[in-house]
Amino acid sequence: MHPYLKQILETHTVLTPEGHSREINSQISLEQGLFLQRLLREIRPRVTLEIGVAFGISSMFTCEVLQESGALKHICVDVGPLRKEGTGELDRYGLGLLNLERCGYGALVEAHELPSEIALPHLLQKGQKVDFVFIDGWHTFDHCLLDFFYANRLLNVGGAIVFHDADGPPVKKVIHYACRYPAYRWLGEIRRRRMLGAGGRSGIRKIGGFALDLFRLLRPNPPTCVALLKVAEDERSWSWYENF
Ligand SMILES: C[S@@+](CC[C@H](N)C(=O)[O-])C[C@H]1O[C@@H](n2cnc3c(N)ncnc32)[C@H](O)[C@@H]1O
Repeated sequence: MHPYLKQILETHTVLTPEGHSREINSQISLEQGLFLQRLLREIRPRVTLEIGVAFGISSMFTCEVLQESGALKHICVDVGPLRKEGTGELDRYGLGLLNLERCGYGALVEAHELPSEIALPHLLQKGQKVDFVFIDGWHTFDHCLLDFFYANRLLNVGGAIVFHDADGPPVKKVIHYACRYPAYRWLGEIRRRRMLGAGGRSGIRKIGGFALDLFRLLRPNPPTCVALLKVAEDERSWSWYENF
C-alpha cells in the first residue's frame, strides 16, 4: 500500500496544501479497498471509472493497481465542489485529487467535477468505454439505478461493476434488478467482518444464477460491497422486464 494512503487510514486525516490536517469521512474501509484491489488485479482493466470520489480513498486503492499494471486511466466523477466557495480553499474532492497527485497517480486521472447524471451521458456520447466501475455517489434508488444504467452502457464485456453500500435498501434494490440482467453474473462480495468472494486462488466467482444471488443478499449479514461481472453484451429486447 502507498505510504501516504496508509498514513491517511491510520490517522483518518489528509493534509491540505497548507500542511493542515483535515479529518476524512465517507471513505471505504481498508477491507473494502483490498477487495477492490483483488478484483482489479483479476480483471486488469485498462480504464476504470469511479462515481463518488470524495477524499480519493477508493481512487488511491484503484490507482495503485492501475499503475502496477500499466493501465491507461482512472476517470473520476464527483459533483464536488473542488474548492470551498468564497475562500478558494480545496474542498473534499479537491483534496481527493490532490491526494492522488501526491501518490504519483496524477497522470492516470481524468477528473470531472459534475454530477454523474450529467458526466456519464457525456462520456457515453464521446464513445468512452471502461472496464471497471465503482459506484459510490448519491445512494437514492433512482440515482443509483441511473449510475448503473450508464455504467452498463459504458462497460466492456469482461469488465465489472462494484456497488458500495450494497447493504443500504436503495442500493440493494438496484443490485437485485441488475442481477436479473442476462449479461451479468455475481463476481464477489464483501461483508462487514470477513471477506468473501474475490477469494481463493482465482479471486473471482464465475458461478452465477439469480436464486443464489438473492440468497446472498438476504443473508443476515448482507454484503457491503457487491461486484457483478459483465459476461456478454446487453442484448435485452425493448420490452424486456423481470420482476425484482
Ligand atoms: C461516500 S462518498 C465517496 C467516498 C469515496 N468513494 C471513498 O471511498 O473515498 C460519496 C461522494 O459522492 C459524491 N456525489 C454525491 N452526489 C453525486 C452525484 N450526483 N454525482 C457524482 N458524485 C456525487 C459526493 O460529493 C461524495 O464525494
